[in-house]
Amino acid sequence: MRSTTPIPHRQPTEAIAPTRQWPRVSILLAAAILVPACMSLEQIAPPIATLAAPPERASSLEQGRLIYLQTCSRCHAAPRILEYTPAEWDTILPDMFDESDLAGPHRRLVTGYVTLVMQRTGSAPLDSGIAASDPGA
Ligand code: HEC
Repeated sequence: MRSTTPIPHRQPTEAIAPTRQWPRVSILLAAAILVPACMSLEQIAPPIATLAAPPERASSLEQGRLIYLQTCSRCHAAPRILEYTPAEWDTILPDMFDESDLAGPHRRLVTGYVTLVMQRTGSAPLDSGIAASDPGA
């Protein structure tokens, strides 16, 4: 009982194609994971460039934003700033600063940044507590 099917000398191209496609698949996968992550980061803490910041304050505001994203994601996901009103931030920020053991200068940087987000997005008139930290607007 001899088989009439000839033994192939070479692998059919289909057999190697999936291996060659792997790099492209990984890039697509990475993009699919990273792109939503970037978008949500911007929703959590709006980038300085979108806030019409006074140029002389841009670098301290950027620091405030980075400290916010780093510090405030240690115990829970960093909250989306616009989910809370200025009055709520007035209570939450000092509370969470204590929780985070954040140093005074860092508190001022974060407060300045959150204040500007509140102001620029016109979410509500600012309460005294946040505004008192000299947003310098
Ligand atoms: C050491 C851990 C820790 C760190 C760091 C931390 N938090 Fe929290 N956060 C908590 C805990 C625990 C709760 C829930 C209990 C509570 O409200 O105190 C909470 C709750 C909150 C809430 C919900 C409050 C409410 O009333 O709905 C907000 C908003 C918040 N944190 C913001 C922040 C911000 C902003 C920072 C950075 C400055 C921060 N957190 C850093 C532990 C932390």
